[in-house]
Amino acid sequence: MSADARLVVISNRVAVPKARGAAGAQGGLAGALHSALKNRQGLWFGWSGKQSESGRTGNISTQTSDDVTTATIDLSERDIEEYYNGYANSTLWPLFHYRLDLAKFERETGKGYERVNERFAELVAPLIEPDDVVWVHDYHLVPLGERLRSRGCKNRIGFFLHIPWPATRLFVSLPYHERLVRTMLHYDLVGFQTQEWLDSFLHYCREELGADVDEESGSVTLDGRTTIARAYPIGIDWEHFSKLGEKGEARQAQQRLMSSTRRRTAMIGVDRLDYSKGLPERLDGISRFFDKHPERVRDLVFVQIAPPSREDVESYQVIRATLEQKTGQINGARSEVDVVPVRYVNRGYTHEELFGFFRAAKIGLVTPLRDGMNLVAKEYIAAQDPEDPGVLILSQFAGAAAQLPDAVMVNPHSPDDLAHAIRVALDMPLEERKERHEKLIGTVRDDNVQNWTETFLRDLDNVPH
Ligand code: F6P
Repeated sequence: MSADARLVVISNRVAVPKARGAAGAQGGLAGALHSALKNRQGLWFGWSGKQSESGRTGNISTQTSDDVTTATIDLSERDIEEYYNGYANSTLWPLFHYRLDLAKFERETGKGYERVNERFAELVAPLIEPDDVVWVHDYHLVPLGERLRSRGCKNRIGFFLHIPWPATRLFVSLPYHERLVRTMLHYDLVGFQTQEWLDSFLHYCREELGADVDEESGSVTLDGRTTIARAYPIGIDWEHFSKLGEKGEARQAQQRLMSSTRRRTAMIGVDRLDYSKGLPERLDGISRFFDKHPERVRDLVFVQIAPPSREDVESYQVIRATLEQKTGQINGARSEVDVVPVRYVNRGYTHEELFGFFRAAKIGLVTPLRDGMNLVAKEYIAAQDPEDPGVLILSQFAGAAAQLPDAVMVNPHSPDDLAHAIRVALDMPLEERKERHEKLIGTVRDDNVQNWTETFLRDLDNVPH
């Protein structure tokens, strides 16, 4: 990116800086983008998260704070229903997370998705100046680049997918899949979290579209246009996050958890309440652990922080009810008058508080059934005391698994595997914990969000245009 080129980021959600924290801390994208825009005098365009009072989608509201200008729009009730709750979160999200059983294929929501992408293009196009570099994010806005091109936008435009890209055999279940992927080939650069998702995308382009694909360079050529596709694993804002432990709020949170668990080891999970996170399966694993080692109910307390998410979507209501039931079952069967094995908390916390909780917890449980990357795994590692680090138990199906092989790896579908991993983590000697942590922390520190941003934007500047 040339030094004076302005960066325009477009994503579904825009985290107005003040809004970071309680609600924002559990969602990785917003924090990562805020870091990317800082110091670049960037513009960030997206949905305010609110329903418009006029009943119509539109009216841009701008504010500048912390070196970032945000331009947001409210969406109409119908647009929220069809685009956000509908096609994005009831079709693409489940399908891309391998949950074909939960995916809904409705013509109306598909039309709503296209309509909102068109409206985004119409509203943001006048804000884009000729030298700007444009970076579009995530599954809500796949066709946006093509919509901008149709309005004459000649800028360099990149796209990054924060979630997995499914295997071709699964992806072709999506009606009009070809139409959707063809729109992606109007971007100059398309980024994925891992080599696995990238390979699936390239496979699709070659096998289903008949595109000319060069695996080595990631170039995909179709109808005379070339797009470059590459993997860019996202990281955390190391500079910012690793210093949070010095703050009073983090120390208090650490103390709060430690004093409430006393001699028991705290094991923590922090996830948006989402079926992709493997929460019921995690509780089944914990239940299996207590079945096998009933005496250890006095050694271990599990704290699951799970702020509700996408509450208007039915599958999210179902997962919430399932978790309440499973937590009740374990606690009913295993509690003593002075011991409750599972603490299930339906609220969000600030990054400072989460740092403190991570540091107090000697086991971090990150066991999604499928996840683009998972930044909680990286934050857990960053919050550990190097002299007495906790153990990360990580799903082999999280994008982060490719980067963090020194975690205790599990198959989240297997309660026996989870139970075994918990026992291994609980009994792991200090030397082994330190050895593993030293390797993990190197990756988390080096592959941080600043490197991610710089690498993506440098490539966007250099790919053929
Ligand atoms: O990573 C996927 C993602 O949709 C992000 O874009 C977002 O920060 C997070 O999940 C939270 O989801 P939502 O914006 O639907 O609350």
